Amino acid sequence: MGSNRTQVTMFELTGLTDNKRLIPFLFILFLIIYMVTLIGNVGMMGLVRAFSSLHTPMYYFLSNLSLVDLVYSSTITPKMLADLISLQKSISFIGCVLQIYFYAALASIEVLLLSNMSYDRYVAICHPLHYASVMTKDKCFSLVLLPSCVGLLQSLAQTSCVFSLQYCRSNLIDHFYCEIPPLLKLSCSDTLFCEALTLFFVSTLGLYSFITVLVSYTLIVSSILRMKSAEGRQKAFSTCSSHLMCVSIFFTTVFFIYLRPDTRVLEKKDKVASVIYSVVTPMLNPIIYSLRNQEVKKVTIKAMQACC
Ligand SMILES: *[C@@H]1O[C@H](CO)[C@@H](O)[C@H](O)[C@H]1NC(C)=O
Repeated sequence: MGSNRTQVTMFELTGLTDNKRLIPFLFILFLIIYMVTLIGNVGMMGLVRAFSSLHTPMYYFLSNLSLVDLVYSSTITPKMLADLISLQKSISFIGCVLQIYFYAALASIEVLLLSNMSYDRYVAICHPLHYASVMTKDKCFSLVLLPSCVGLLQSLAQTSCVFSLQYCRSNLIDHFYCEIPPLLKLSCSDTLFCEALTLFFVSTLGLYSFITVLVSYTLIVSSILRMKSAEGRQKAFSTCSSHLMCVSIFFTTVFFIYLRPDTRVLEKKDKVASVIYSVVTPMLNPIIYSLRNQEVKKVTIKAMQACC
C-alpha cells in the first residue's frame, strides 16, 4: 500500500513572517524573550533549591513548572530564531517528530501541573490544619509523576498516529515550527482518525484541568469570603494570587485559540496565537511569582544582594 508514493524526508517551514523588514526586530525581540525565559526559570529552580523557606510543596511544584517551561520553550524558540535569520528553513523528518513529541508532551504536563497546583492551594486554604498530613512527600511526588507519565504517553499516541501517515503531497508546513494541524494538511492519507485522536486528548486534558481549577478556586474563594479577619483573608489570597494569575493567562490564551468560530479562516492569526503560547507564556510564570509572591520576592532580593 502506498509503495508508489514517495514519503518526504525533509520539511520546509514557511516561518514566522514574509516581511523582511520585520525580521531584525522580531529576532531581537524573541532573543530577549528567550533569554528572560532561560534566566527566569533557571533562577526560579535555583531559588527553590537554595532557600529552605521555599522547601514546601507549592514551591516544589513551581520549580517543576519552571523545568517544564524551560524545556518547552527550548523545543521551539532556538530553532525559530535560527530560521528567522537563515534562508533555508528546513527541518528533517525526525526533527519534526521530536519537536511535535516534546511540544505536545510538555504542553500537557504544564496544564496538568497547573491544575494540581490549584488542588494544592485548595488544601492549603480550605484545610490548613490537615495540609501537612495531606500533602506528604509521596503525594507531592505522585502529583508530579502522574502528569509527566500522562503527558509523555498521550503525546506518544498522538505523535505515532501523525507520523504513521504518508506525506507525499508537499513538504511545505505553513507554520514556524512543526505542529500537528498544519502537518496533517500535507498528508495524502486519511487524517480523520488522527484528527479525532488529537481533538480527544486536547479536549479531555483541557477540560479536566479547567474543571479542577474552577472547582478548586470556587471552594477557595468561598472559604476566603467566610474568613472573619481581614488580615486572614489578605494572607490567604496572597498565597494563591500568583497561581491564579498564571492559570488565568494560560486558559485565556487557550480559549482564545480554540473557541473561535472557524479555525481555518484566520491562518495568520494562528501564528500570532502560537507565538503567545509557545514563546511568551513560558517566560511569564517566574516573572509573575517573583513580582507578586512575597516569599519569592524576598529571596530574589536576598539572592541578588548576595551575588552583587
Ligand atoms: C519536582 O517535585 C518533586 C516532588 O515535590 C520534588 O521532589 C522535586 O525536587 C521537584 N523537581 C524540581 C526540578 O524542582
